[in-house]
Amino acid sequence: MKYVFLDCDPGHDDAMAIILAGHHPDLHLLGVSTACGNQTVDKTTINALKILSVSGLEHVEVVKGQAAPLMRPPKPCPEIHGTSGLDGTTFPVLTKKPIQGKKAIVYMNEVISQQTEPVHLICTGQLTNAALLLTVYPEIKEKLAQIVFMGGGVGVGNTSPAAEFNIECDPEAAKIVLESGVQIVMVPLEVTHTALCTPTIIERLHSLNTSFSSLIVDLLMFFQDAYKKVFRFQHPPLHDPCAVLYVARPDLFKTELMRVDIDTESRLCAGRTVCDIYHMSTLVKNVHVALHMNVDEFWNQMIQAVQKADTL
Ligand code: BDR
Ligand code: CA
Repeated sequence: MKYVFLDCDPGHDDAMAIILAGHHPDLHLLGVSTACGNQTVDKTTINALKILSVSGLEHVEVVKGQAAPLMRPPKPCPEIHGTSGLDGTTFPVLTKKPIQGKKAIVYMNEVISQQTEPVHLICTGQLTNAALLLTVYPEIKEKLAQIVFMGGGVGVGNTSPAAEFNIECDPEAAKIVLESGVQIVMVPLEVTHTALCTPTIIERLHSLNTSFSSLIVDLLMFFQDAYKKVFRFQHPPLHDPCAVLYVARPDLFKTELMRVDIDTESRLCAGRTVCDIYHMSTLVKNVHVALHMNVDEFWNQMIQAVQKADTL
């Protein structure tokens, strides 16, 4: 069993990452923190609470994190995730509340440092909370098995030709995390763009034939329409659960250790993950970059988690 803490910005694919982290048989989800990203942090926090409440994970605590990146204004993404950040369905009235009166990094530090096992920190949004955690509590590095994040690209980006959304939102935070000395795994667009939510996948979910599976299908249909409009993708890529699956089943991935730097300065390429694929850099190799994932097994495990989460 691996102990995981999930830092996210739900977000349709973050919602699926929460379900996978909470229901994968090899993972124990210790808590969820939120940041601004796909929407404001108030909205991503409500969305995390909503998805936990409908998926049999009411016991998992949520702490609200940073409302803005370290040095830049927030950059929400309603064109993909809607005005709520999780558009496409109606959730039951929310009663679950986030942790009160405590900063996210204080809570994360408490939870992670009290574990007897090393904790896997999974980040599926911008890396602001993780960067602050490592800066304010550097001793936490001893307690972390690794940080696995969804973000970046070996080649092209998505929100700019050069940069992927999570890294583009807070490049300075990404730089801190990648240079922290903690074991880092990057699950980039090259991998997540293979986790396509095709009609066959929608049909597999639909055929579960419950009110929970319809809620999930409604969310994914909204996500699909958004991806068609914005990126002209026929089928939307379910980015964030790929990072969760890596922690549970690294055997389903191929990775390569290389130097990765974050461009924090350029006008055209800020947020680019500059991957030294030819191993030319003399700097320390700092990131295990995922280059391939077993997609069939990804969907088998994601759909099994949805089945287990079905308590509506
Ligand atoms: C990432 O950006 C967000 O919109 C998604 O939730 C995912 O984490 C993909 O670039
Ligand atoms: Ca996300």
